[in-house]
Amino acid sequence: MDLKLAGDAALVTASSSGLGKASARALAAEGADVVMNGRTEERLAAAVDDVRADADPDATVLGHAADVTDPDAVADLVARPVDEFGGLDHLVTSAGGPPAKPFVETTDEEWYDAFDLLVMSVVRAVRAAVPHLRADGGGTIVTIASRTVKEPVEDLVLSNSVRSGVVGLEKSLSTELAPAVRANAVLPGAHETPRIESVVEGQVERGEHDSREAGMAAWAEGIPAGRLGDPMELGRTVAFLSSPRSAYLSGAAVTIDGGEGASTL
Ligand SMILES: NC(=O)c1ccc[n+]([C@@H]2O[C@H](COP(=O)([O-])OP(=O)(O)OC[C@H]3O[C@@H](n4cnc5c(N)ncnc54)[C@H](OP(=O)(O)O)[C@@H]3O)[C@@H](O)[C@H]2O)c1
Repeated sequence: MDLKLAGDAALVTASSSGLGKASARALAAEGADVVMNGRTEERLAAAVDDVRADADPDATVLGHAADVTDPDAVADLVARPVDEFGGLDHLVTSAGGPPAKPFVETTDEEWYDAFDLLVMSVVRAVRAAVPHLRADGGGTIVTIASRTVKEPVEDLVLSNSVRSGVVGLEKSLSTELAPAVRANAVLPGAHETPRIESVVEGQVERGEHDSREAGMAAWAEGIPAGRLGDPMELGRTVAFLSSPRSAYLSGAAVTIDGGEGASTL
């Protein structure tokens, strides 16, 4: 199916790795012009090269290094696709993750940092993007959150709690900005990204698993699909939610977890 994204302009925050990168790859493969982002210049440049290799020949892929917790940097980041491509049709937000720990070990500072990283980064990006998304026939927002907003995961109290704010924000945006702008969230379960790989490597070093393979198999236990997700499975969903093919889909929080979640809705 042609997603009819060719020639559109997209920004994907925190996209030099993992789920953000897969989303950028899926959008560029459909012919969208994409600005990718991350804090580390070298990592971002390598990711841009990698995504370009799979992109539609007419798509332009650029990198813009910025920390999404820095308000001024976010304003400049949103301005980049507008300057380069003449507008912004699709905003996709990702971010790093807050530290994994139980509630009793968390500090006030960690709560404020998690809010800055997961919620305020999206608030600021959306605020800067709205005038551009509203222009020229409307646009879309997709936020990458986590399935932890539906079912809390042990020792992820910061993610379990703070991410609900961003899903509430998306729901509110889907009415306030309608009909020009659609807003949706995706709620990933475990996907095989560098973030998960480094967690498994740590578990192997601590002797919790005999090997990387054993560690990955342990993560896959309890997932009806029998495996972790491929980041591109999430990336392609993000591209679909950005596409006019999903024109009647707004205010949704789409769980992508191989069937792991136990909740009915
Ligand atoms: N992978 C999963 O299974 C999974 C499941 C549920 C939810 N999630 C959530 O999805 C998000 C992405 O996860 P992932 O697995 O794709 O992680 P990842 O592979 O570690 O990628 C994270 C990306 O974010 C960038 N980044 C981190 N902090 C940033 C900041 N302050 N400003 C700009 N860029 C920043 C990183 O680049 P730099 O470090 O160079 O900045 C990198 O490109 C996280 O919030 C994670 O908690 C992931």
